[in-house]
Amino acid sequence: MKIERKQRVVLVPYPFQGHLTPMLQLGSILHSQGFSVIVIHTEYNTPNYSNHPQFVFHSMDDGLQGIDLSFPSLENMYDLNENCKAPLRNYLVSMMEEEGDQLACIVYDNVMFFVDDVATQLKLPSIVLRTFSAAYLHSMITIFQQPEKYLPFEDSQLLDPLPELHPLRFKDVPFPTIKNTVSEPILDFCRAMSDIGSSVATIWNTMQDLESSMLLRLQEHYKVPFFPIGPLHKMAPLASSTSILEEDNSCIEWLDRQAPNSVLYVSLGSLVRIDDKELIETAWGLANSDQPFLWVIRPGSVSGFQCAEALPDGFEKMVGERGRIVKWAPQKQVLAHPTVAGFFTHCGWNSTLESILEEVPLICRPFLGDQPVNARYLSQIYKVGFELEAIERTVIEKTIRKLMLSEEGKDVKKRVVDMKQNIVAAMQIEGTSHKNLNDLVDFISALPS
Ligand code: UDX
Repeated sequence: MKIERKQRVVLVPYPFQGHLTPMLQLGSILHSQGFSVIVIHTEYNTPNYSNHPQFVFHSMDDGLQGIDLSFPSLENMYDLNENCKAPLRNYLVSMMEEEGDQLACIVYDNVMFFVDDVATQLKLPSIVLRTFSAAYLHSMITIFQQPEKYLPFEDSQLLDPLPELHPLRFKDVPFPTIKNTVSEPILDFCRAMSDIGSSVATIWNTMQDLESSMLLRLQEHYKVPFFPIGPLHKMAPLASSTSILEEDNSCIEWLDRQAPNSVLYVSLGSLVRIDDKELIETAWGLANSDQPFLWVIRPGSVSGFQCAEALPDGFEKMVGERGRIVKWAPQKQVLAHPTVAGFFTHCGWNSTLESILEEVPLICRPFLGDQPVNARYLSQIYKVGFELEAIERTVIEKTIRKLMLSEEGKDVKKRVVDMKQNIVAAMQIEGTSHKNLNDLVDFISALPS
């Protein structure tokens, strides 16, 4: 039964696709539980209001007009945190002055860590949303505790195991590296992002059953209540689009014309950039694998090129109907399509969860941040995907064939089906995500306002 509640919850997302999406999904969940939801967002990447008529939106001046944020720098991220402070505070003050208003709490993306300062000044409870896996944060925190044990490392160590962080290797360190080390400013930023300040709880887009030991260790570290209520995209009641780019729905008609369980979906998410050499190796790997493929080549995702002009001459003609290239796809719909049999992915956490929940096994080609950690867990612990060993056309072709055609590929498929069943169980009435959501609702309702 829907609970009638007057309390309002403010959400502050980080304005990039992989972060905006889980925050809006959390908003839908909280709204369905009787909360009024106010989304305070940056001008950059303003969400599409008409897709979320149940929310109140308010835009903050982020002071970053005219700056290319397609791949945000450290400076951009600090500027965002600094510039949004006053606009957020001013808006919250005016809200709190409104007669009869009841602000329960502010939920913020962990990259928007300035929110905690503002909330503290205004004596409002704040809650952090973690948009990635517990394994990723655990690996970061372990390294913070003794950075000298891990950094810098030698080229010869790249494939050696990271002490105490099985199954990660030195090449998987969860920070952007330059010459096998991580700069102090990057470490500082990651520390700020992983800190919770005076926040009273954390919400996770993960499942307790999947990451129980990591979550326990992290909870010992943070000493606040944890609410793993993932997968948010399935827990959210409304399936309205959260896409910033326009989705090319024509690829669904193309998928409709393919044989069941035959297509490889290829996408490297919303931020990753590759060079033209990698694009060309991938193109030949796909062509030579002889498997149908749907490939997302996002504008700006190939360094130095607008979009797909760097493809080998005549490539699209050569693969013909067997291949389809789009600029942006309705990914959840694609992964749910019965013709899709595999996902060649950068292993962003949203893509990872979306793939598993549609029983689609993966080829892991991670780049940075949490992606290498996710890729190792997917290939070595959950065993629902294969890691791409090298960015070479023959290796790509072989890995695609292994996933789509081999006995090993069938085993990986069986495991992803089992993994999905376990996650679905967490979402049932007696399941952990469902129970944690009830606890979260009680927790927010009991916060002093
Ligand atoms: C970034 C980081 O790269 C990632 O590692 C981190 O976990 C979150 O932030 P991103 O590159 O956006 O993520 O990847 P991901 O987390 O997978 O999110 C991408 C989202 O875009 C997914 O929800 C996916 O469904 C959507 N998408 C992607 C589309 O809707 N269409 C596409 O064509 C490609």
